[in-house]
Amino acid sequence: MASTAPIGVFDSGLGGISVAHEIRRAMPHERVLYFGDSANAPYGTKTPEQVRELSFAIVEHFVKQGVKAVVIACNTATSAAVNELRDTYEIPIIGMEPALKVACDRGHGERQRVIVAATPLTLRERKFAALMDRFKADHTIHPEPCPDLVSIVESGRLDDHDLVMRTLHGYFDHYDLDSIDAVVLGCTHFVFYRGYFRELLPDSAAIIDGNEGTVRHLHVVLESLGKLAPEDAVGGVELANSDPSPRVAALARDLLQRP
Ligand code: DGL
Repeated sequence: MASTAPIGVFDSGLGGISVAHEIRRAMPHERVLYFGDSANAPYGTKTPEQVRELSFAIVEHFVKQGVKAVVIACNTATSAAVNELRDTYEIPIIGMEPALKVACDRGHGERQRVIVAATPLTLRERKFAALMDRFKADHTIHPEPCPDLVSIVESGRLDDHDLVMRTLHGYFDHYDLDSIDAVVLGCTHFVFYRGYFRELLPDSAAIIDGNEGTVRHLHVVLESLGKLAPEDAVGGVELANSDPSPRVAALARDLLQRP
């Protein structure tokens, strides 16, 4: 595969656009083919088998388009399918997981109190259990499933301040937020809520997402394979979606400008 080939990036819907945005910022010469599966969103309340089947169909489509790598810009699809995808395809498959390590490392050895906000499926899967096992002895970790934060983005209501704050209060008011050190945004849709989380949380609480780390990893992998796009290449993001409606296309374009 030539270094000028595109990178396939997908998500259950519009959340992964926050990752495509970060690729465009950090790797401006790369061409990104983004596929949002909004017709089938949310993934987070489906079974792992359903999410695996949907993920395979998307990656198969990317491979036919000649991508040099795939980024699963979705923690949920990563939980359900990354191992099987890597076993099946030869191109690099970059996955995502909640950035719990980043949150715990911030304490430099001191016990951290961390909320991990993600989808129900991500928090139920083995991959997250393994991640918890690495940190739960030394840190206090609260997994919090927040499925409504996905549907609010997908339905274009992200700017409805009252609705969003009501929803966040519903999920987080049972915590003593003043004692929380960090909230991990373990779903790519949630990255669009950063400002709202800032409003909800005391200044002392960090808000952490995995987008920068994922894109750094993508860079390292492509560099090691000699597959980074040349510096004179013109990069960009092409948006596609399984929901063909103009509403979703407009929403996707708007979100690409946001984070
Ligand atoms: N954006 C996805 C994630 O990072 C999943 C959202 C969903 O479809 O439930 O987990």
